[in-house]
Amino acid sequence: MPLTRIVYCSELVKNIGSNEISDILDVSRENNAKQAVSGVLLFNSDYFLQCLEGSRAAVNRIYCRICCDQRHHNAQLLAYGEVSQRLFGAWSMAYVPWTEATRTTIAQYSSSTEFNPYQMSSESVIKLLEELGQLLLTSEH
Ligand SMILES: Cc1cc2nc3c(=O)[nH]c(=O)nc-3n(C[C@H](O)[C@H](O)[C@H](O)COP(=O)(O)O)c2cc1C
Repeated sequence: MPLTRIVYCSELVKNIGSNEISDILDVSRENNAKQAVSGVLLFNSDYFLQCLEGSRAAVNRIYCRICCDQRHHNAQLLAYGEVSQRLFGAWSMAYVPWTEATRTTIAQYSSSTEFNPYQMSSESVIKLLEELGQLLLTSEH
């Protein structure tokens, strides 16, 4: 089964709190690890950007479940395809802390200073994810 990557963005529902975000991360880490799925979840107060990588069946199954989740809406696929290598192989669901380095990295690939994945090209999104993966690796070691 080919290694497949899905990247999508969505809008947070207005009343979502930090407890719910941490629930999402906990469940994601548990479920994804069981299915050899890795990825990252990036968000601000308005938007999610998520990357899921693993077998085609597993990432599609998880993505379909995520799309029905009432804690966000308006999911838009930004990239989908087979890949030769994982970007986030070290994490069942990495969380990107909102640091100055994160902001600077996002600004490099965005036309505005605000994080808005709907405005980004799929090429910029993949480059952003590649750089965030490197940033996470260096910040953890
Ligand atoms: C933005 C967002 C990202 C999510 N990411 C994942 C994920 O990567 N893996 C996962 O299993 N569930 C994820 N979820 C949660 C699922 O929508 C769903 O609630 C969960 O998979 C149900 O798990 P359970 O059947 O074990 O309770 C996400 C939800 C949201 C709103």
